[in-house]
Amino acid sequence: MSRLVRRSLIALGLLLGLAAAALAALQWAPLYHFAAHSPRALPQLFDPDGPLIVAHRGWSAAAPENTLKAFERAAALGLPFELDVHLCASGEVVVLHDETLERTTTGRGRVDETPYDTLRTLDAGAWFDPAFAGEPIPTLDRVLERFGGEVLIDIELKTTDRKAELAEAVVAAIRRHGLVDEVLVSSFDPFLLGHVRRIEPAIARGQLVATFEKSDLAWHEKRALINLLLNGESQPDVIMPAADLLTDDWLRWLKGQGYRVMVWTVDAPAEIDRWLAAGVDGIISNTPDRVLDAWTRRAP
Ligand code: G3P
Ligand code: CA
Repeated sequence: MSRLVRRSLIALGLLLGLAAAALAALQWAPLYHFAAHSPRALPQLFDPDGPLIVAHRGWSAAAPENTLKAFERAAALGLPFELDVHLCASGEVVVLHDETLERTTTGRGRVDETPYDTLRTLDAGAWFDPAFAGEPIPTLDRVLERFGGEVLIDIELKTTDRKAELAEAVVAAIRRHGLVDEVLVSSFDPFLLGHVRRIEPAIARGQLVATFEKSDLAWHEKRALINLLLNGESQPDVIMPAADLLTDDWLRWLKGQGYRVMVWTVDAPAEIDRWLAAGVDGIISNTPDRVLDAWTRRAP
């Protein structure tokens, strides 16, 4: 074998090795420090004496998710709640989880293709239990008007092609109700959080992280999101990992970087105990009563 061929093979081997190392790093290594910024401690939102116990989509084990009834049940316990928002076809910000209406309402089709005049006629309670029949899809305005300032509200912006429009509408609603310092805006989509940051930097931002198993994102997009490579865009104060993704090491690292850490969705008693012991800043749960009981039993 000539010297040239040998050198070419060595160079090729080195290149392949480097490519494999880069892929392994993207798969496993925590690369989030490439996007350094300064998360805020948010003392106005977090309690120094214990974790935030946040009712997921309201107290969704007790009442239909993302309805005023589910939010009332959480607020009656004095607990913060999380909700999901979309822009509907006529531009109102409406509160429901899915992109489509079928699962939790009497409507059909996509939320973003349905005008509010239609959405307001739908029943968002009967699917859960006939006792909740007639419960409407709330607007974000209605929820902020009713519960703003009473308990912390975590507003999750569902991803959309109309990012600037959704961010502007949500920030406008938060400002209208004087809640800039009293809400958390969260999203899986760092670009949506980037829009919120540029419009109103004072609002607390939470970056949601999941395995994205069911998502149709490309592999490299999932890896970038899991490794927080777009943190420079969202500049979050709170990292919000799915419970199956968070590890003790990662929690320690995130806390060391100054992030608040809120884990979701934690309902099983053993899991609740595990995350209370780990010292997370917040637990998002469909059964917040269980988390509250477990926390009360632990507290001295
Ligand atoms: O707050 C976290 C959680 O709500 C994110 O997932 O699908 O329940 O909106 P999802
Ligand atoms: Ca949500």
